[in-house]
Amino acid sequence: MTQPGYETIDVRPLSPAVGAEIRGVDLAGDLGNAQFAEIRRAFHEHGAVFFREQRLTPEQHVAFARRFGPINVNRFFQPVDGHPEIAEVRKEPHHKRNIGAGWHTDHSYDAAPALGSMLYAHEVPDCGGDTLFASMEAAFAALSPRMQDMLRGMRALHSSRHVFGARRYQDEPQEYAGRLGNPELATQDAVHPVVIHHPQTGREVLYVNPGFTVRFDGWTEAESRPLLGFLYRHAAHPSFTCRFRWEVGSIALWDNRSTWHMALNDYPGKRRYMHRVTIDGSPLA
Ligand code: SIN
Repeated sequence: MTQPGYETIDVRPLSPAVGAEIRGVDLAGDLGNAQFAEIRRAFHEHGAVFFREQRLTPEQHVAFARRFGPINVNRFFQPVDGHPEIAEVRKEPHHKRNIGAGWHTDHSYDAAPALGSMLYAHEVPDCGGDTLFASMEAAFAALSPRMQDMLRGMRALHSSRHVFGARRYQDEPQEYAGRLGNPELATQDAVHPVVIHHPQTGREVLYVNPGFTVRFDGWTEAESRPLLGFLYRHAAHPSFTCRFRWEVGSIALWDNRSTWHMALNDYPGKRRYMHRVTIDGSPLA
């Protein structure tokens, strides 16, 4: 159902906690400031926004992303030929593994984590390959006040090493050849507050994720595991999530500060090919 309060776009929430489809916009056209401001408002309100039936050149894709902030050139993903700012998210019929399979937040291992990511579908399986999103604002709000207070005083270490470092490629190098690379660049570690204030909305957000968070600052990994495990189970509860079904021409833009996402790997033997542009963010507090 259309959400009231927007004049230049049609906003349809996918779930109460996260995600909204935006209709009535041609991203290849001349997007005026008023319409762009409403898209950005919906993005902050819903954490992830989705567009359908778009036809963008790589230049138009990058130009739309750049309206949100500078582009972050990905170190590990295969770039699109001639477009270093665009990363390929690709699974061929012979691949077993997809990219982004578990719940995670892009770039939480960076000192200034990415603001958001914009994924554009070029080829999708006839069914399967959906992406799930989860609101870390809703997850935090649903914790008990005592737990919230404890987490507010904590920080956590995030790392790229175990995900993009050399060990990932040891067992199945053929799975990732031509898709992910540069393991020697996986040296980023960063410590962030466990509860951040969203840089734009000021709202509190739980900022740990199963993909990249290694442990709480000052705690061992073994000590951290039970509490992280509880937070991960809590935050992945279906009531904080939505599910987006892709079509060719769909675009998803998600906020990497306030959401997790996870790409389902349920389409063996099929091709899925997307272009991702990542938008730079700022240090979190
Ligand atoms: C990603 O994690 O960036 C990829 C998400 C997807 O392919 O749906």
